[in-house]
Amino acid sequence: MALLEIVNYPAPVLLTVGKPVEHFDDRLKTFVEDMFETMYEAKGVGLAAPQVAVSNRIFVMDCSHEEDAAQRIAAINPEVIYVEGEQTGDEGCLSFPGLYVPITRNQRAVLRAQDVNGNWFELDGEELTARCILHETDHCDGVVFLDRMTKLKRELAKRKIKRLQKIGKWD
Ligand code: NI
Repeated sequence: MALLEIVNYPAPVLLTVGKPVEHFDDRLKTFVEDMFETMYEAKGVGLAAPQVAVSNRIFVMDCSHEEDAAQRIAAINPEVIYVEGEQTGDEGCLSFPGLYVPITRNQRAVLRAQDVNGNWFELDGEELTARCILHETDHCDGVVFLDRMTKLKRELAKRKIKRLQKIGKWD
């Protein structure tokens, strides 16, 4: 297994719609294992392929931080098929290091995706699980959490990123 390099905003790959996965081969399985390893190493609860500069519809998530194997999810060709309710809470993203901003999302989200063998499954999540499903599926659509902020928070976040870029703490 190998650690992958996580790219930061505004890398163009983060703002590009990912291509669907067609081949469920060993190469995909290895890539997904590398994504899990990279996510755990970075202490994240979710990581999408565009964040490691691969423009495909793939993400991994584990809201239990390796405590519960049932929460270790790899989603290939994900779609959100149902949402309900609303929640607001601080959200971060491994491609925006050090940035935590309150974001309003649905309270519940149902994910439909394929596993690494190509079998379709559904995941019905609430709270953090729903937030993670929505955030990571967004990445596969070329949407970053900056796009989900209120206008004011987005301007503040962009200013902070510019400041960090200027002092060389954001690349
Ligand atoms: Ni993210």
